[in-house]
Amino acid sequence: MIAVVISGTGLYRPPHVITNAELVESFNRYVDLQNGAHAAEIAAGTRQALVHSSVEFIEKASGIKQRYVIDKDGVLDPTRMRPRFAPRRDDELSLMAEIAVDAAKKALAQAGREAGEIDAVYCAAANMQRAYPAMACEIQAALGAGGFGFDMNVACSSATFAIEQAANAVRAGTARRVLVVDPEITSAHLEWRDRDCHFIFGDVCTAIVVEAADESRSADRWQILGTRLVTQYSNHIRNNAGFLNRCEDTDPDARDKTFMQEGRKVFKEVVPMAAAHIEQHLHALGFEPTHVRRYWLHQANLGMNQLIVKRLVGREVGDDLAPIILSEYANTASAGSIIAFHHHRADLVAGDLGVICSFGAGYSVGSVVVRKM
Ligand code: COA
Repeated sequence: MIAVVISGTGLYRPPHVITNAELVESFNRYVDLQNGAHAAEIAAGTRQALVHSSVEFIEKASGIKQRYVIDKDGVLDPTRMRPRFAPRRDDELSLMAEIAVDAAKKALAQAGREAGEIDAVYCAAANMQRAYPAMACEIQAALGAGGFGFDMNVACSSATFAIEQAANAVRAGTARRVLVVDPEITSAHLEWRDRDCHFIFGDVCTAIVVEAADESRSADRWQILGTRLVTQYSNHIRNNAGFLNRCEDTDPDARDKTFMQEGRKVFKEVVPMAAAHIEQHLHALGFEPTHVRRYWLHQANLGMNQLIVKRLVGREVGDDLAPIILSEYANTASAGSIIAFHHHRADLVAGDLGVICSFGAGYSVGSVVVRKM
């Protein structure tokens, strides 16, 4: 099999930050407004009063301290509680494509490639802004890339699943050079009015170039030694928004049309699943978890990542072995492990082994074992 590498990564980071203090302040104003508006029903016992959120809970339960968002005012407006995006004409670049193009250009520059040298674009994300044409086709056109493009969604594992498809395409010769983009506008699928999850997500876009090692001009090449994917059906992370909604005559703003989860169950079920997956993948390649210099894990919860790595290497570990970016970015769906890889690989040396691993809705787990060349 020919050697395939990741030869460049790029990151689009939105311009606005929402700190936990700002988020909680606006959420609590929303709660007060709602409780005030429904005071009579609450007093009569026909409606439950909403309860305030707290910065302390968010930081202790998740490790998240802030998040980046494309629109801040709409999210923090207690009478709105979601981002405000201006609709764009069909002949304008769409929002998802805009942030994907930004991240893609940075990844291409790192790989030392022109867009015209790309012959496949995979747009892999937890949400697509429209049904068709595929976002990937628009991104391909906006960049001036050749070949073909398609969209794929495996929720928080979209990026790692796409890396496997990219590596396989290069090996099979169906594409010479693949661009994977992960535009995650999670602020639009998050229910900012739900205390249990209003702090979880942030917006971002990552991009990765995958190509044959012997063709790569990049000074920073990461050989893909192996990829391994698994899914196991679960309803504990779910979003029922979809094209059948209008035919079902259901409320488009109903709670089930945005992100929902049973956080505690997800935590309990996904930690052993992800740890076993990584261990089995490493064993299949002839490695032990202790051989790994760095784990770039999905970024949903600090405690989850600490537990997964502890299960793997048998001891408490710090940021050096498994860097955390969720304190700054929050959960960015499929982009999280790629942001960690983007920011935290410059100190590794040739021969160092690393694992990029995502886990999320599906359930889905995707791991990519890489070695610095
Ligand atoms: N502020 C203050 N208190 C809050 C709160 C908030 N925003 N949200 C919930 N609480 C309270 C709950 O009411 C509950 O109170 P109780 O014990 O009196 O019933 C308590 O805090 C614990 O709530 P729980 O939902 O069980 O918290 P948790 O410790 O499980 O943490 C998550 C919640 C979501 C941070 C955590 O479960 C998690 O990250 N799970 C993994 C999620 C994941 O990986 N998802 C993948 C998504 S892609």
